[in-house]
Amino acid sequence: MDVSGTTKITGIFGYPIDHTLSPLMHNAAFREMGLNNCYMPFQVSPEDLPDAVKSIRCLNLLGVNITIPHKEKVVSLLDEVNEEAQFIGAVNTIVNKEGILTGYNTDGRGFMSSLDENNISADGKNIVIIGTGGAARAVSYYLSEKASQLSLFDITIPKARNLVDDLKMIRNNIKLLETIEDIGKPDIVINATPLGMKADDPLPFNPDIITPDTVVCDLVYKKTKLLQEADKRGAKNIDGSGMLLWQGVLAFELWTGIKPPVDLMRKILLSNIS
Ligand SMILES: NC(=O)c1ccc[n+]([C@@H]2O[C@H](COP(=O)([O-])OP(=O)(O)OC[C@H]3O[C@@H](n4cnc5c(N)ncnc54)[C@H](OP(=O)(O)O)[C@@H]3O)[C@@H](O)[C@H]2O)c1
Repeated sequence: MDVSGTTKITGIFGYPIDHTLSPLMHNAAFREMGLNNCYMPFQVSPEDLPDAVKSIRCLNLLGVNITIPHKEKVVSLLDEVNEEAQFIGAVNTIVNKEGILTGYNTDGRGFMSSLDENNISADGKNIVIIGTGGAARAVSYYLSEKASQLSLFDITIPKARNLVDDLKMIRNNIKLLETIEDIGKPDIVINATPLGMKADDPLPFNPDIITPDTVVCDLVYKKTKLLQEADKRGAKNIDGSGMLLWQGVLAFELWTGIKPPVDLMRKILLSNIS
């Protein structure tokens, strides 16, 4: 698709931004659908974030994705923030409707879509999440709605306690794990720490708790050592590439109101994840 006078611009604000796969994924979808849209990477330093957000209005962008390190800081710069993004305290998608900027967080729903397409149900399950940063906040908002019990652990205990307290305001099935040894035998266990991004990272928990009936999810985008341990034990497992895909699909829908070609976006993502 050639850029013309009527091209609608979307993009992503991050710092750094060089490694983002989102432009490849979204531009391929726009081209495939014959939409006159374009998705650009914007390197925005933390001190420039307020001006960059104003530019969404001035330049009449359709909207943008927001990535590290701006997801939390951007919340206070928007006109409206939807309920899930408010709970999570972070925005990854902004929609510009006639100058009104609304913030969304599509990470949690993206994760749930990834479970769905793998025929994994969280209904009535005993679920443990390891790590309680931004990604865990997003997925716990949805998982806590379905789980019989949702337990959370983080090496930084106050951080875990903070998320547990926030979840307890809206749910009554939340538990804090004081040590990783309290993990028990969950039906679904989710690594929401960065462990596994590097080959020599330790495992986030002792894999001996994994049985063939356990579902192991890693939010890291690749086949981590943890997921290899799940394979060895005959346990179903998924990596974070599905969540990455579906958060993008949902952002696309928010901007255009149209369902994008998911399989094409997946192909582009998977062929570019290293
Ligand atoms: N698939 C996707 O679309 C998607 C989306 C978002 C994020 N992610 C991935 O999800 C992971 C987490 O991202 P995030 O943004 O939530 O990161 P984050 O904000 O840094 O949170 C990670 C949390 O895990 C804690 N942690 C580190 N090592 C731990 C351990 N051994 N045991 C328990 N907790 C530990 C960290 O504690 P400290 O702060 O004390 O180190 C931190 O609280 C990353 O790998 C990221 O790439 C994937």
